[in-house]
Amino acid sequence: MSREHQHNIQGWTPAQLGSLAGKTYVITGANTGTGFEATRVLLSKGAKVVMLNRNAEKSALAITTLKQEFGKKADVTFVKMDLAVLNSVREGAKELMDKSSRIDAIICNAAIAQVAKQEITVDGFESQLGVNHFGHFLLCGLLFKTIEKSEGRIVVVGSNAYKMGLKRIQFEDLNFDKNYTAWNSYAQSKLAQMMFAYELQRRIEAKDISIQVQVCHPGASRTNLLKDTASTFNKIVWSILSRIIAQSAEKGSWPEVMCAVEKNLKPTTLYGPTKRAEMVGPIGNCPLDKVALEQEMATKLWKISEEKTSLKWSL
Ligand SMILES: NC(=O)c1ccc[n+]([C@@H]2O[C@H](COP(=O)([O-])OP(=O)(O)OC[C@H]3O[C@@H](n4cnc5c(N)ncnc54)[C@H](OP(=O)(O)O)[C@@H]3O)[C@@H](O)[C@H]2O)c1
Repeated sequence: MSREHQHNIQGWTPAQLGSLAGKTYVITGANTGTGFEATRVLLSKGAKVVMLNRNAEKSALAITTLKQEFGKKADVTFVKMDLAVLNSVREGAKELMDKSSRIDAIICNAAIAQVAKQEITVDGFESQLGVNHFGHFLLCGLLFKTIEKSEGRIVVVGSNAYKMGLKRIQFEDLNFDKNYTAWNSYAQSKLAQMMFAYELQRRIEAKDISIQVQVCHPGASRTNLLKDTASTFNKIVWSILSRIIAQSAEKGSWPEVMCAVEKNLKPTTLYGPTKRAEMVGPIGNCPLDKVALEQEMATKLWKISEEKTSLKWSL
């Protein structure tokens, strides 16, 4: 058994990690928050990281900061991709594959949250469902063959919100035209991401394909998540609460890094912090509400996602 296989998942930290030289990781939304911190950890171990970000200026700044820390030779680049725009996802995925023929893991980290008033993307989706779910669904589908050739992974960053909203996909009104609330629409988008991931695990297992899919969440982490999108009230509440209940963005990044690199992980599992209602604390196996594993809803969501993104998976 290799050394990596002996690592403990309970209480995992990056200190357990050996060299990642020769590995390539792709992370969405990596210019700030947990995505940026995950990039830092991976670079510190010698990996190559490609960030998929929507903002060129913020990305340049992030790369400068990372090169100041890890030296000019640190292998970190960025590809422009706006997950809210399906065409941008297609163009970015093509540029990424031209640049890198190997993907050891794609970390679906980017998200918007608690969008105060209903917004619709250019492709006609409620913005959180569009960015968090449909954008990543298309991206993972486009990169699938490359990840398979690399025997790589797909890591989906979920949220405990998946079990706190309506706890279902509102198929009759996906965009919340009739009953929009910032909380329920965010919760639906994170449930959709996690349902997609567990459905993908089932489909991959049935076909015996060499891709691993892992699901995690960062607990409550001090990041910019609500900064641009939430209502003033929610921003104020979170700015006070986060000082009391949340952990650093760095610790929030550890579950996604672990899911991208560690070998002894299991399917049908949700990894994340395990203390104080899974908001902070040592990483471990978090309770998984059965709604995330509901197969009828997942199959319906998959079919709709293929239609909406015009991408048919070979699964
Ligand atoms: N922080 C928490 O307490 C918490 C709790 C549960 C789950 N999560 C999950 O953790 C993940 C990371 O969030 P975070 O807390 O680190 O938030 P964050 O600091 O706001 O980072 C989110 C990242 O996503 C990017 N992004 C947003 N919309 C995008 C788009 N249309 N296309 C491409 N990139 C886009 C942002 O880019 P810009 O900088 O350009 O905006 C940013 O880089 C998310 O999946 C979130 O749902 C966070």
